[in-house]
Amino acid sequence: MIHYDKRGLATTAKTQYAVDAFDAAVDEFLGQGREATVIVGRLERLDSEMVIGQCLRGYFMKLGSRLHLEVMALDCLSRAKILADDANEQERKHVDALSFWCAGDLRRTKATWEEILIDHPLDILAFRLAHNLHFFVGDLAAMRDSPTRIMARWSDAVPGYGYLLGCRAFALEESGYALAGEPFGRRAVEMNEADIWAGHAVAHCLEAMGRRIDGITWITAHSEAWRMRGPFANQVWWHRSLHYLELESYQDVLDAFDTEFWPAPSEDNTDITNATSILMRLVMLGVDVENRWETIAEVCAGRVGDCLRSFNDLHFLMGLAMSDRYEEAGCIVERMRGFADENARKGTTSALVARDVGVPIAEAILAYAKRDYQGVIERMLLVRQHMVPLGGSWAQRDVWVRMLIDAARRGGEFNLARALLAERVSEQPTSAPSWKIYGDVLERVGETTHAATARARATALLAA
Ligand SMILES: [Fe+2]
Repeated sequence: MIHYDKRGLATTAKTQYAVDAFDAAVDEFLGQGREATVIVGRLERLDSEMVIGQCLRGYFMKLGSRLHLEVMALDCLSRAKILADDANEQERKHVDALSFWCAGDLRRTKATWEEILIDHPLDILAFRLAHNLHFFVGDLAAMRDSPTRIMARWSDAVPGYGYLLGCRAFALEESGYALAGEPFGRRAVEMNEADIWAGHAVAHCLEAMGRRIDGITWITAHSEAWRMRGPFANQVWWHRSLHYLELESYQDVLDAFDTEFWPAPSEDNTDITNATSILMRLVMLGVDVENRWETIAEVCAGRVGDCLRSFNDLHFLMGLAMSDRYEEAGCIVERMRGFADENARKGTTSALVARDVGVPIAEAILAYAKRDYQGVIERMLLVRQHMVPLGGSWAQRDVWVRMLIDAARRGGEFNLARALLAERVSEQPTSAPSWKIYGDVLERVGETTHAATARARATALLAA
């Protein structure tokens, strides 16, 4: 039977109750809530033959990016395919999208959602998933343009409008338009303070503009609302730590690590990326992180050979390599290489990314951990400006740019370090540690006057 979802889209289901449960699951997904999979379980009990419900379950499995969920996604796909004969065209395209996703063809997956949006611009599930996958594969132009194509068909009166604004804010920031993105994100949070993705988008905008105090204030002001939103809140605390880091408030970073985003070992991919990348930054800045790598490395040891996303593999690798667990770290590099060799020729998106960017960075991380700084430089110079296809944000990938700069400095390549730091302070002029390190490097190459100026900039920033 045909029923209608909360945005008026025709939905094939046994009852309206099932469609309402579908709406609730989508809402929870849009709000990054922890209950999305619980609600989708309820939906399964209400109507296990609802094709879009099976697609939604499959999508959630894929979004988890965990090996054990891959099989479950395939089960959802096979059930959705059986049900597709009685579905409408829009629903059948969702089945196609899930099918492409399960086959590892991320470009056709997101293209299918975009195709749905041409005829059904209110399909917020297709929109939000496309936003995710554009982000996952670093397709910034597609992520930027996706909301603008459909916005004219939306208004305050359409449920979920704020989520669209939040995505637009994030897409603009990642595309280099942080100033333009910020008001969209702020507006979305005004409409719904629980919209943590929009709040996170504003955090990104403030980070990109180097507005340190504004960034800390923004996150702190909404922390109670966002703490309720599940594990994704940890990414927001991580963003606040980036501001602490650039203000040299290293104890605040360590405290946030211990109490906010790694209070206990976690298997969540975002938690692992948060934890490894902040420790890596601290180590490069000479901060003693004591035994904090240990619990992360234990978790990462269980993720050798995931090869679902290079972006995640590289963080697992950092966890192991920086704990001197070189053998397991080497296994990750080998598995990534093998996965790329085997699957790139089939066109598997993640294998192409692993081949072109993931493996060279993996080799560089292992080299860095082994203090082979020339090894880092050789690999990173080739890929540092081509990391976008890894997915993740500019703020997240930045850890590997820092690694190159640090390797140049520690490896005695001071002219290279000077050039890279000149770039850095130009792009991030409010980073006090960068100015300080720049000053040190300028001193090493004999540019004493410029060194004093750079150090004065650091002092001024810290005094402000
Ligand atoms: Fe982020």
